[in-house]
Amino acid sequence: MMDVSQLISFDRINAAIPNAAVVERRLSHLRGVFADPHAYAGALEQGDPLVYSVASVEPAGGEGDLHYGIGKIMPGRVGQEYFLTRGHFHQWRPAAEIYIGLTGSGVMLLEHEQTRRAYSVDLLPDSVVYVPGHTAHRTVNVGDAPLTYLGIYPARAGHDYGALEERNFAQVVVVQDGRPVVLDREHFLASLPILR
Ligand SMILES: [Fe+2]
Repeated sequence: MMDVSQLISFDRINAAIPNAAVVERRLSHLRGVFADPHAYAGALEQGDPLVYSVASVEPAGGEGDLHYGIGKIMPGRVGQEYFLTRGHFHQWRPAAEIYIGLTGSGVMLLEHEQTRRAYSVDLLPDSVVYVPGHTAHRTVNVGDAPLTYLGIYPARAGHDYGALEERNFAQVVVVQDGRPVVLDREHFLASLPILR
């Protein structure tokens, strides 16, 4: 177990933290996450690239403690949709989170659990995005280089992926005319050709 009370330097380019646990998510781990199932199947036929990784520092401790992690999302797309994280609610719903952009160019999709209000916020180097409690959050890389960011959250937050598995996020981030745009999922799905 690492001692979190000491100075820990991280590598913002590689999103590495010494001795941190690393989770890697490849394309094959993200079935049902991207909006366009035809594009997903086609991309998997080409290979199974790394989509994102998260290095987390989550020592066992008191519930007043903080945890943190560095995420790295590779540049890429499935069809028109940019590479993204699965996204989650916090198991302890009131838990908020601070994201700090380190490198690259990103967008965060946010969605309140009860009101379903869905909105997006840019995630850029040296800027902060405040994710309120009760809010699902997903990070999307809309640039040509890896997107890296630091996330800091209450130790008791936990991660709940299951609640989003069926409904997914209401919005998608896709390329149109060479630029990223945020669209309603239903609107985007309706724009896809039916027979391909
Ligand atoms: Fe989170």
